[in-house]
Amino acid sequence: MQKKYLIANWKMHKTVQEATAFMQALLPQLEAVDPSQLALCIAPSFVHLPAIAALIDGHESIRPLSLVAQNCHHAAEGAFTGEVSAAMLASIGVSGVLIGHSERRIYQKEDHLLLAKKIKRVLASGMQPFFCCGESLEARRHGSHKTMVQQQLEESLSGLTTQEIEKLAIAYEPVWAIGTGQVASIEAITEMHTFIRQMVSTQYGTERVPILYGGSCNPQNAKAIFDAPHVAGGLVGSASLQVDPLMKMVAALLG
Ligand code: 13P
Repeated sequence: MQKKYLIANWKMHKTVQEATAFMQALLPQLEAVDPSQLALCIAPSFVHLPAIAALIDGHESIRPLSLVAQNCHHAAEGAFTGEVSAAMLASIGVSGVLIGHSERRIYQKEDHLLLAKKIKRVLASGMQPFFCCGESLEARRHGSHKTMVQQQLEESLSGLTTQEIEKLAIAYEPVWAIGTGQVASIEAITEMHTFIRQMVSTQYGTERVPILYGGSCNPQNAKAIFDAPHVAGGLVGSASLQVDPLMKMVAALLG
């Protein structure tokens, strides 16, 4: 069975105290979950990473838990005030980084080329890039959703070897479904996941890249989404901020 992923993208939520309390409530609930079946990744703000790393330190092999950052800089190091490098993240036990989330594409104007550099940097630091793609509402309305996602993948992943691409996970997150409560239909998810699977397979000759879905995922709709073809798990925002709905989605994923 292919390992499943559930990523809790907390975005800009929670104080360190709230994050710590969440983890203390979550940890005992994970004791019964087989780490070979699930990667449950917590993606908090940079500020929370050391505190959470300390809480899960030493438990990685017995609990299906790992730490993912929401972003990093593309350069190895240098005079970049306010930025965080991939090496810094790796040095505190972070194992993956979200790259190309639509909120960063929109608000920070991150483009394909920059994202390609970030992917390389994350790989060079020994971490897993979680590359986010997904069409805008406008593209969906014009029927150009596949073209848009194809361009995102081609321009940011070109230049990667098969060995490198197999270290990646891809998250398909239609922009119009993020934070709107307007989840994509199972048909739309299946269409896009099949499309992405075929693209990666044709270009790199591998089927080993997990493809996750994100956008208004919650305990009510999770099972149907996770059961859809080529869906290896979820990238979840608001429904991941509380332990109970998060654990319900873990159950939906493994059930
Ligand atoms: P929501 O689950 O809040 O729609 O957010 C999805 C997302 O952007 C995860 O990265």
